Amino acid sequence: MRRVAIIGVGMTKFGEHWERGYRDLVVEAGVKAIEDAGISGEKIDAGFVGTMASGRLIGQEHVGALIADYMGLNPIPVTRVEGACASGGIALRQAYTAVASGVADIVVAGGVEKMTDLDTSGVSDALGGAGDQEWELFMGATFPGLYALMARRHMLEYGTTEEMLAAVAVKNHKHGAKNPYAQYQNEITIETVLKSKIVADPLKVFDCSPITDGAAGVILAPLDIAYSYTKKPIEIVASAQASDTISLSARKSLTEIAATRIAAQKAYKDAKVTPKDIDVVEVHDCFTIAEIMAIEDLGFFKKGEGGKASLEGRTTFGGDVVVNTSGGLKAAGHPVGATGIKQAVEITWQLRGQAEGRQVKDAEYGLSHNVGGSGATAVVHIYKKAY
Ligand SMILES: CC(C)(COP(=O)(O)OP(=O)(O)OC[C@H]1O[C@@H](n2cnc3c(N)ncnc32)[C@H](O)[C@@H]1OP(=O)(O)O)[C@@H](O)C(=O)NCCC(=O)NCCS
Repeated sequence: MRRVAIIGVGMTKFGEHWERGYRDLVVEAGVKAIEDAGISGEKIDAGFVGTMASGRLIGQEHVGALIADYMGLNPIPVTRVEGACASGGIALRQAYTAVASGVADIVVAGGVEKMTDLDTSGVSDALGGAGDQEWELFMGATFPGLYALMARRHMLEYGTTEEMLAAVAVKNHKHGAKNPYAQYQNEITIETVLKSKIVADPLKVFDCSPITDGAAGVILAPLDIAYSYTKKPIEIVASAQASDTISLSARKSLTEIAATRIAAQKAYKDAKVTPKDIDVVEVHDCFTIAEIMAIEDLGFFKKGEGGKASLEGRTTFGGDVVVNTSGGLKAAGHPVGATGIKQAVEITWQLRGQAEGRQVKDAEYGLSHNVGGSGATAVVHIYKKAY
């Protein structure tokens, strides 16, 4: 296996892009990543793109071909991958595997989603298909509903409170306020969250990630040739993915995402690091409870202590580990297929020292965590400064 590095990154601003189409967003992010890598498009051998639900959201399938066409990449192979909200993380892993195995040298991994063409109920229906259609969505269980069940159980077993959930949103809005690419760049208070309207009890509007349009891209190369393109390559030192039951009801526990725990263990082993070595983390906070479970399942805090740690400020600057400097899914937004790639973009900026206004000092190791559905897929990547 060859060592693999990120040599270029780019993304659109995340938000409601009423005036723009899916293909415009892809082209903007892709061109920015190619320019950042300082390569010409002809150097690219292959592409993988994460898109979750383009058929239902914008009526467009076959987006691998669409992207190859509009990016001017024909005739190289561009392949769409789908793993619900983990589609971007899976695209990155596929690109990593292609470079590591020697099948390709320069590979682009992208993620994109255009969600705001439908109204909220249309989007909820499209997203709900990433759970168990027959046993969950058909019975009315949308994603806010499924994560609300997990939140209630976490509260019951560990004494997690609505205030602790709210603290996650407050922290992520504070980080997002420093990120020019974030959908929401405003700070909020615990009271704002607690007083916002209930979506699925105990989750309120401000406990939820929003509906978002956006795209992101990264360019990968073998580490040994990465230095000819950039002075600051960021090595991907581990790429791990795990699966679990599609239906929440079949899980052994509702207070963990087991696929996260398993993927993280494998990633730490491959990277030869422990959670203590990680300086900056992007976790999949599709709902505030999801961040609390993630920081526990990734080993940053003991099971049951994630809520308290969030309330005590241990997941922000000056704490134990800085979580979601981008603002996370909550404030930076969650264009589902793009999220996993956006996380890699943010970690790259952090490890290059380019995260202006939200830079974690001397960050050496970063981790990204991307979840599909209610946890049936989890992808974990670990990154290291290679300069
Ligand atoms: C939470 C949710 C239901 C809110 O949708 P909604 O009630 O239709 O909200 P609207 O689009 O009407 O927005 C109303 C206002 O709240 C804001 N808003 C909407 N969602 C928000 C969120 N998650 N956080 C903060 N503000 C939000 C909007 O910007 C808007 O503000 P404005 O009036 O100043 O323009 C929707 O964002 C949602 O479904 N989120 C979850 C998405 C999801 O499941 N993703 C996959 C996870 S696995």
